[in-house]
Amino acid sequence: MTYENLNIQQEDGILILTISREKALNALNGRTMDELAYFFGEAAPQMDDLKGIIITGAGEKAFVAGADIKEFLALDAAAGAEMAQKGQDVFFLIERFPKPVIAAVNGFALGGGCELAMACHMRVAGEKARFGQPEVNLGIIPGYGGTQRLIQHIGKGKAMELLMTADMLNAEDAHRLGLANHVVPAGEEVAKAKEIIAKVAQKAPVAIAKIVECVNAYYDGLKDGFAYEVKEFGATTGTEDFKEGAAAFIERRPANFQGK
Ligand code: CAA
Repeated sequence: MTYENLNIQQEDGILILTISREKALNALNGRTMDELAYFFGEAAPQMDDLKGIIITGAGEKAFVAGADIKEFLALDAAAGAEMAQKGQDVFFLIERFPKPVIAAVNGFALGGGCELAMACHMRVAGEKARFGQPEVNLGIIPGYGGTQRLIQHIGKGKAMELLMTADMLNAEDAHRLGLANHVVPAGEEVAKAKEIIAKVAQKAPVAIAKIVECVNAYYDGLKDGFAYEVKEFGATTGTEDFKEGAAAFIERRPANFQGK
């Protein structure tokens, strides 16, 4: 696929994916969602040496200012539900990706943009970041998982308030509430995210993938997270990486994990 709205750069084994529709504050139009679906569904899973992915927005003003409102006028109940389902499917690909995916939130993360950031495994907020779900201003509700993931990140009462008032959280408040993992000076979001991914890359890749699965299992109504952890703990003890990790500890040397 040729990407029109995603700019993808590789630095030190880390992919930096920039949503690039700066004039529209990087709003997620249909084409951009198709490109994200292809990237996370087809392209990225085949990249063997990948350490992780950072998602950010082009320019200094916005991470992503939401779904593209200019495409909304053609929607009816059926088309709206289809759009929401498709968006949720794409964001599940991100949430379930077996390597760390970090949102480097450089500005407005609103509506679908906040939902995109929340689907990532972690969020690094620049000082100018603003998080919010302003859909009620438009007479709609979040459709890309916002009503579910905002509760997961900041709790029910505060989520209710943000969803009902359309208020925005600044970076410090997002950090205080647990939505942002770190706050950094503007322009340093990607560097901080790279630092985290580099740290994760030193760990056993199979164990990292299992962490993603087990943490997500907690929120999956069809899975018993504790039982899932038992099964996956068992699976990790059968890996070569576990033998290497344990041997390295006993021999007092750094582990050399192979991802097997
Ligand atoms: N869709 C389409 N275009 C958008 C957009 C969006 N979500 N957000 C901003 N833009 C466009 C504006 O239309 C404008 O384009 P023009 O110059 O062509 O008019 C350009 O980006 C710059 O925006 P503003 O002039 O509005 O910039 P501002 O500094 O005055 O305000 C803002 C910035 C507060 C982010 C404001 O743009 C805004 O409120 N945007 C909409 C945010 C929003 O409601 N997001 C939720 C969308 S619905 C959704 O996402 C549902 C879902 O869950 C899937």
